[in-house]
Amino acid sequence: AAARLIFDTRLPIGQVNRRVFGSFIEHLGRAVYDGIHEPTHPTADKQGFREDVKELVRELGVSAIRYPGGNFVSGFRWEDSVGNRDRRPTRLDLAWHSTESNQVGLHEFADWLDSTGNEMMLAVNLGTRGTLEALDLLEYTNLEKGTALSSQRADNGRTKPFNVRMWCLGNEMDGPWQLGHRSAEDYGKLASQTAKAMRAFDPSLELVVCGSSSRHMPTFGEWERVVLTHAYEDVDYISCHAYYEENGDLGSFLASAVDMDAFIDSVIATIDHVKAVKGSNHVVNISFDEWNVWYNKRYETVDKIQGVDNWPVAPRLLEDAYTVADAVVVGNLLISLLKRADRVTSASLAQLVNVIAPIMTEPGGIAWRQTTFFPFALTSALASGAVVTTRLECETYDTEVYGPVPLLDAVSTFDEATGRTSIFVVNRSQTGSTKLEFDLDVLDDATLVSAQTLADDDVYAMNTLLDPERVSMRGNESLVLNGSMCTLELPPVSWTVITIE
Ligand code: AHR
Repeated sequence: AAARLIFDTRLPIGQVNRRVFGSFIEHLGRAVYDGIHEPTHPTADKQGFREDVKELVRELGVSAIRYPGGNFVSGFRWEDSVGNRDRRPTRLDLAWHSTESNQVGLHEFADWLDSTGNEMMLAVNLGTRGTLEALDLLEYTNLEKGTALSSQRADNGRTKPFNVRMWCLGNEMDGPWQLGHRSAEDYGKLASQTAKAMRAFDPSLELVVCGSSSRHMPTFGEWERVVLTHAYEDVDYISCHAYYEENGDLGSFLASAVDMDAFIDSVIATIDHVKAVKGSNHVVNISFDEWNVWYNKRYETVDKIQGVDNWPVAPRLLEDAYTVADAVVVGNLLISLLKRADRVTSASLAQLVNVIAPIMTEPGGIAWRQTTFFPFALTSALASGAVVTTRLECETYDTEVYGPVPLLDAVSTFDEATGRTSIFVVNRSQTGSTKLEFDLDVLDDATLVSAQTLADDDVYAMNTLLDPERVSMRGNESLVLNGSMCTLELPPVSWTVITIE
């Protein structure tokens, strides 16, 4: 097949916000313990954090990291996680049926973030707790001095406040699995009240209200409308969460971004509807603070822990091994997020280490990059400046779930400061490569064009403990520049980044 891409660096859609390259660490499975933290590992630092993992986190290029959950946060008492480690209580984590030792808490995680160069995005517990506990946590983290809680923080080793800017008002409060799950009415009121109280402390905080936990929840749409009707003026973002998995239908799975596009469009429509009804000038954007490929069916049917006497510590949970096809979908989901850079101004890949993660670790052993690491790292490194208007002319293919969908999907960015244009493109075809053509005439003096592609003859190839470098990026040698016309071959089931400088 052949396809044509047209991009125009003079027509920006929105700025690339670094926050879109956020990620997520939850106290879940081996994300924290035996993930980022393993005191007996040969690379462990003084606090027990693995240096080899930190290096991969830096290479991945993530920005803000959401913490400490997820479902975990709805049963979490933040006070348990600060102060003398020997006196911290061990608790049950009801969300993941595990034992939480609290050996890594707020201070240790903040130190880890300092060493990886990431920003903290904190979630408060609005499931089993309320406004007062959220205010206590805020005072503990953000007030310089002069109160019991700010002094307590200083006594615990941090004189300067953590100064957390971005706060999630609970997690997935529409989900029946959530501890303290409530109706849109009840949650909307609680979120509004908590946001107002937090803003009474600091009006400049950035607050995220919970949207639906997926586009396929029975209350989707109406949940957003009702929650925003209560909290519109009090928040800056509404959250979106989406996970995709292949259910024996690769064609539909490869088109997962079609679902994400529609999800984003409908949440924007709902936000703007509430804005219109309220006659408001305030703008609410999207924080897509959980997205990824997740083989959730496997968790639900095989991995779920049960039993009143069975509360393991750091169990192997949600440790999906990702294929080339999964990585192509992840690359496509990033394209989808960037296409709406004007309204999706924050996002978090869920998650970061071991738990549905681009980085895996073996206790006492290596840390390695999953296939999904590559599209994320390269998009984070090369998408900068503005997202610019991009059009594709290509064939479609039929999917069971979404009907006919375009064979390709793409987005382009242009950075005035560096002069670099980047094009990110996926080929969803399973049957053949696609010859892509585009004209560089809109660029004044572009000379250096290069492309890297993620593809494999085996679309189910993975990087594993025994073969950690099986899949990686390759230079795309098919690229030809003839005058201002560029062509290259996009292999079947592939993700490609083209840079023009
Ligand atoms: O990321 C895994 C889980 O997915 C999170 O804890 C929850 O918020 C979502 O359902």
